[in-house]
Amino acid sequence: MTLEEKYKKFEELNRQAELGGGEDRIEKHHKGGKKTARERVNDFLDPGSFVELDKFMTHRATDFGMDKVKFLGDGVVTGYGKVEGRLVYVFAQDFTVFGGSLSRSNADKIIKVTKLAMQNGAPIIGLNDSGGARIQEGVQSLGGYADIFYLNVMGSGVIPQISAILGPCAGGAVYSPAMTDFIMMVKDTSYMFVTGPDVIKTVTHEEVTKEELGGAMTHNSKSGVAHFMAEDDENAMMMLRELLSFLPSNNMEDPPVLPCTDDINREDEKLQTIVPVDPNKPYDIKDIIIPVVDNKHFLEVQPHYAQNMVVGFARLNGQPVGIVANQPAFLAGVLDINSSTKAARFVRFCDAFSIPLITFVDVPGFLPGTTQEFGGIIKHGAKLLYAFSEATVPKITIITRKAYGGAYDVMSSKHIGADINYAYPTAEIAVMGADGAVNIIFRSEKDGDKKTKAVEDYKDKFASPYKAAELGYIDEIIYPRQTRKKLIQALDMTKNKSKTNPPKKHGNIPL
Ligand code: HXC
Repeated sequence: MTLEEKYKKFEELNRQAELGGGEDRIEKHHKGGKKTARERVNDFLDPGSFVELDKFMTHRATDFGMDKVKFLGDGVVTGYGKVEGRLVYVFAQDFTVFGGSLSRSNADKIIKVTKLAMQNGAPIIGLNDSGGARIQEGVQSLGGYADIFYLNVMGSGVIPQISAILGPCAGGAVYSPAMTDFIMMVKDTSYMFVTGPDVIKTVTHEEVTKEELGGAMTHNSKSGVAHFMAEDDENAMMMLRELLSFLPSNNMEDPPVLPCTDDINREDEKLQTIVPVDPNKPYDIKDIIIPVVDNKHFLEVQPHYAQNMVVGFARLNGQPVGIVANQPAFLAGVLDINSSTKAARFVRFCDAFSIPLITFVDVPGFLPGTTQEFGGIIKHGAKLLYAFSEATVPKITIITRKAYGGAYDVMSSKHIGADINYAYPTAEIAVMGADGAVNIIFRSEKDGDKKTKAVEDYKDKFASPYKAAELGYIDEIIYPRQTRKKLIQALDMTKNKSKTNPPKKHGNIPL
């Protein structure tokens, strides 16, 4: 072979690898409203930054005539590149090659980039679009999955791991994304389930469509499996980039501080009147969060799930923070099973990656009822208490209105290690609301006037922040308009916080 022929061959192999399963399959894929693996990687990464690995890897199967059907790359595109100039690793399953199914070689490629990501301390992003285990390879494929699951666990809390679901993700294949930190799904084109509609029909006789069972909205609103929902593939890639902008590359690094273009002393008069004095009147906690954070930019996580709790990322003076907030506009901001687990997982993520926690409190307590009790609100509520207690990142709390009962303790109170606890003058820190308290203390009192007077007395004595401030449980009572400035002051004061929990193998969070 001449030199020229050698280069020609190399060029031809590159072309073949880049064509994946071929033009016809790419066309079919595009017609389904989906982009190819390579197009997605290009959309996701900074232009020209992608470096591909194992481009010519093929499967090694021989059964079922597989030795005669090989595609360079074997159904997954892997490598590394940059997002806003920062290193990330990526794998993108290529549905045009054996339906993106996982062969031994395909798994080995994913394992290689994941190990590189862990060793070099950068996030790994999986773009999932796969028919599951490569059926022709049987147990080798299952072994590949388990090797990936194991690495997901080893990498948990070491590097951010993010999954985008951009097509099918079914059977045991769901468990790799499930063990990553965030799952993003795309409307109409993605679905996740352990067993599909046909099996469900045979076993339980339920009839359900793929979309109802495991579509993007189902997992974003009903199951809480997913954290974000994108309109289409391109939008998903933009959202992944935005999410990464708040995260450090690994657990040894601080989150990326950006120059702040918003006045750190900015006061907002509108905040003075957001919280209604009547404790039974709702308001939207996001009307406080959004005006307070840098450039009013708040990336909400799981906005459609357990809406009585709001969690998400923002910046204060350029420093990324995790925000956890009761939402009085939904179920009065009550703590229930779903809101507790939603917030607990978010708190643990932030703590693992050194992201300070800002907690806004307006909570009437835990949701009563048999559904909650039989469902285990005791152990699920305990998760949130556990997560806030073990978190050693700076923790700053603002009580805007109600902080009643056990929920007061749970919501990042002073007692479980918060560094600075603020309260608005509208705060009511008490065992319960005044009406409930009087109904118990004066259960046998028949005189309505006396009861009304007792409610007023209770309100004066306990439904305020002053008793807690007397005891040092609240560090400072602030005007709502000062919220931004006060949060930034507290963040600055705690920026060198150094706290470690007692040494142990690991704790035993109530699962
Ligand atoms: C090998 C597969 C495949 C698979 C799809 N293909 N899934 N090849 N192994 N698992 C191939 C098809 O043969 C076809 O090849 C191409 O991919 C596209 O598939 P279509 O069926 O034409 O596409 P579509 O109509 O869009 O349907 C997609 C699909 C369907 C719903 C994913 O392909 C499907 O049901 N596949 C099987 C899913 C499955 O049962 N997987 C195993 C689950 S068990 P050609 O050559 O025609 O383009 C599992 C266990 C994991 O995953 C356990 C982990 C612990």
